[in-house]
Amino acid sequence: MKGVEIKTLEPYFHIKKGFMAEAREEMRGELLKMAGSLKTFIQSQREFCRPLSFLYLKGEETLKGSLPPDHPQNGQKLPSLTLEEVRREIGDCQMCPLSRGRTNLVFGEGNPRADLVFVGEAPGEDEDRQGRPFVGRAGQLLTRIITAMKLTRKDVYICNILKCRPPGNRNPKPEEIEACEPFLIRQLEAIKPRIICALGTFAAHTLLQTDVPITVLRGKFHAYQGIKLMPTYHPAYLLRNPGAKKQVWEDIKMIMEAIA
Ligand code: URA
Repeated sequence: MKGVEIKTLEPYFHIKKGFMAEAREEMRGELLKMAGSLKTFIQSQREFCRPLSFLYLKGEETLKGSLPPDHPQNGQKLPSLTLEEVRREIGDCQMCPLSRGRTNLVFGEGNPRADLVFVGEAPGEDEDRQGRPFVGRAGQLLTRIITAMKLTRKDVYICNILKCRPPGNRNPKPEEIEACEPFLIRQLEAIKPRIICALGTFAAHTLLQTDVPITVLRGKFHAYQGIKLMPTYHPAYLLRNPGAKKQVWEDIKMIMEAIA
């Protein structure tokens, strides 16, 4: 009985085998297509899950790269935001875990139309408590440098790479810099300074996209988006190494000459 059944069904099995191979191929194609759509969907959701205006904060390149090809904002020229708009967009930012440990987000302060912008690393304890950049010991030294330039803190703009304090003032992590950098980009776009002074390694490396040591970078102008950028030692470094003040003053004098 069994044998008869097998014999009778044999042609059917052959057909079925062929059919199965075809179906497998078809299913594989379908799965690949689904994986492709899923990837595009996840990429666009990564943007859409955030407030819409984050699209603007991420910069044109990212916008092009992460939106579906038929998205109406694809390839659009991004509008420039004002500093107030950038601050509004940051809101109660939760883009990285530093948000959970902060007392205040430290956006930056000074002249929204400053010729000179100082960019530091990240808020410390005093800055986190007051919500203002460079107000601790290193900040007081920066204020003295600004005064020596015959300027006031209100003439320049002061901000940081990170807007929230890393715990224990540890170094910023690459992913924190990546999350926060769009804000700085938009701040600099809004201010359009003539000169940027990058204070310390993290500011210089982030803005110049390099890992050349600050000892090599300092002492000459570089370019950030067509803006002159002078890297120099961080005031906190000067507190530990007062001997380096002479070099910082040389860098500052070059800035003063360029602004004059
Ligand atoms: N150090 C920084 O880099 N930024 C501040 O705001 C304070 C200290």
